[in-house]
Amino acid sequence: MTAHLNIRKETSADHKHVFTLITKAFSALEHSDHKEQFLVERLRNSTAFIPELSLVAEIDNRIVGYILLTGICIKNGSGEWPSLALAPVAVDPDFQGQGIGGKLIMAAHRIAAESGHKSVILLGHAEYYPKFGYVPTVNFGISLPFEVPAENCMAVELAPKGLEGVSGTVEYPHEFFE
Ligand SMILES: CC(C)(COP(=O)(O)OP(=O)(O)OC[C@H]1O[C@@H](n2cnc3c(N)ncnc32)[C@H](O)[C@@H]1OP(=O)(O)O)[C@@H](O)C(=O)NCCC(=O)NCCS
Repeated sequence: MTAHLNIRKETSADHKHVFTLITKAFSALEHSDHKEQFLVERLRNSTAFIPELSLVAEIDNRIVGYILLTGICIKNGSGEWPSLALAPVAVDPDFQGQGIGGKLIMAAHRIAAESGHKSVILLGHAEYYPKFGYVPTVNFGISLPFEVPAENCMAVELAPKGLEGVSGTVEYPHEFFE
């Protein structure tokens, strides 16, 4: 029997479980500073935090996944456009490879699109995110303020032409850099 997966908005009662989950999910990852759990704590207190885009996935009341989309800005010399950063998405290693990460990403996209958000930007695994519509940000003339390979900088349009006419550099909330 397949256990039922429930995706819902995070509440303050979830914080300590989410902290443990993120710590565990990133612990074996080579390209990680192993501090993603602290980033989430800072972002929850940031003006860029959007509560309805902080989601947990649970099975039998156990939190097995988490995703956060935070407000960012894409800027160039002639304009600026709001967007969202996906960081992080994490699934308990005991539950990985069952589609939970994908369901969290799709749920976050749906809720964000319903609220009128037009795009999501992320820095992540080049092979994983294209399944969910992500393409390199260079396709849109968008760059990230990090020294990382272009293939790891990705964007998805949540609405048709969501990034039409948008180009420049992503400006992250300062909480990303502390
Ligand atoms: C990345 C992560 C969220 C995916 O969650 P998940 O529930 O296991 O993912 P899904 O079941 O939806 O998808 C599994 C697929 O993703 C692939 N995948 C998982 N991690 C991957 C990685 N690091 N790079 C490339 N592909 C990856 C699997 O190979 C699998 O591919 P398949 O469907 O072709 O077999 C999860 O592996 C995780 O928490 N990893 C540690 C934290 C992390 O890396 N977060 C993302 C930071 S960019």
